[in-house]
Amino acid sequence: MNLNLCVLEGDGIGPEIVKEAVRVLRAVCGARGVGLSLDYALLGGAAIDRTGVPLPDETVEKCRAAQAVLLGAVGGPKWDSLPSGLRPEKGLLGIRSALGLYANLRPATIFPALRAASPLRDEIVGAGVDIMVVRELTGDVYFGEHSRFERDGVLHGRDIMGYSVPEIERIARVAFGLARRRDRRVTSVDKANVLETSRVWRETVTRVAEEFPDVALTHLYVDNAAMQLVRDPAQFDVLVTGNLFGDILSDEASMISGSIGMLASASLGDGPFGLYEPIHGSAPDIAGQGKANPLATILSAAMMLRYTFDLPELAGAVEQAVSDALGTARTPDIRGDGLPVWTTEQMGGFVAQRAAELL
Ligand code: NAI
Ligand code: MG
Repeated sequence: MNLNLCVLEGDGIGPEIVKEAVRVLRAVCGARGVGLSLDYALLGGAAIDRTGVPLPDETVEKCRAAQAVLLGAVGGPKWDSLPSGLRPEKGLLGIRSALGLYANLRPATIFPALRAASPLRDEIVGAGVDIMVVRELTGDVYFGEHSRFERDGVLHGRDIMGYSVPEIERIARVAFGLARRRDRRVTSVDKANVLETSRVWRETVTRVAEEFPDVALTHLYVDNAAMQLVRDPAQFDVLVTGNLFGDILSDEASMISGSIGMLASASLGDGPFGLYEPIHGSAPDIAGQGKANPLATILSAAMMLRYTFDLPELAGAVEQAVSDALGTARTPDIRGDGLPVWTTEQMGGFVAQRAAELL
């Protein structure tokens, strides 16, 4: 078996954290005799500096030729004064849509060693939190018609919310498919008491659920879901929702686990192809200083092993190694509890070695 990846390091701390994730991938693949081919391409500010545009055609081609993409982060003050169409962030949105990625997956888990870093009390998170938020990425009010108009001398703004049945079916299938690899529970979040879009959403998700009789489905209104996430997060397994509600709930859920440097994500489309990246940005304030926490990127690489390559043992070894690392030392972004403070490289090196030992 050989894994073909396209690697987009991006800007700021991007190259430092990606380097450690690649080191971990090499270690676990090496331990199991799995081949790893890496093709590097430019994205964001790095691409602007070299080619004048944030997403060169060559980058899209290299990503399409790969089985998965590993991405650091893009952006920084150097490019802030550029017009919006030419800014690094444009590259990020562009690559996701060029690759047809419509499902954004964000795990919200609590590593035992980081319980004290959670903003929630110990008795709330003590039961163990392991949520996968699945957010639809390409529809909803963000992609409806946006307008402003005047009526009787009064200015109005208007954004149209909508989802088609096929759009809902495909994201629902992603959620149910994931649940099968987890605790077999899906919570679908909508506002069906008020919105017609949500009523179509609820009917459609309910129908798709019949294809997955081994997975339990519940529906929640979004306001209740927001409350339940902080009241009793342990009740959730997979949580699926549209673009707007998912934007908010995924941020809310991710904060349960405490540190931005720990949060991984995946963007999936049809089939196993995926783009994997930490949710944080390029952290220009600490770039080049060896202070960046590489664990979000390393955990994103673990998601890649699990979801694109169906190598759960390798993914599990990486996740266990991250957990062990957190009990041993910390990067400066996480409260230390008296543990030694490691550099980006030391953290990556530990995880790589430990994960390989576990296999
Ligand atoms: P940021 O996530 O880059 O940084 C926020 C704070 O968290 C900073 O204090 C930073 O030092 C810290 N931080 C972030 N990741 C860390 C890590 N792995 N280890 C330790 N500390 C970490 O968000 P900010 O400052 O709003 O944006 C900086 C740049 O990143 C901007 O140009 C922004 O547009 C871009 N950005 C890019 C994203 C992406 O590529 N997906 C997402 C968010 C922002
Ligand atoms: Mg957001």
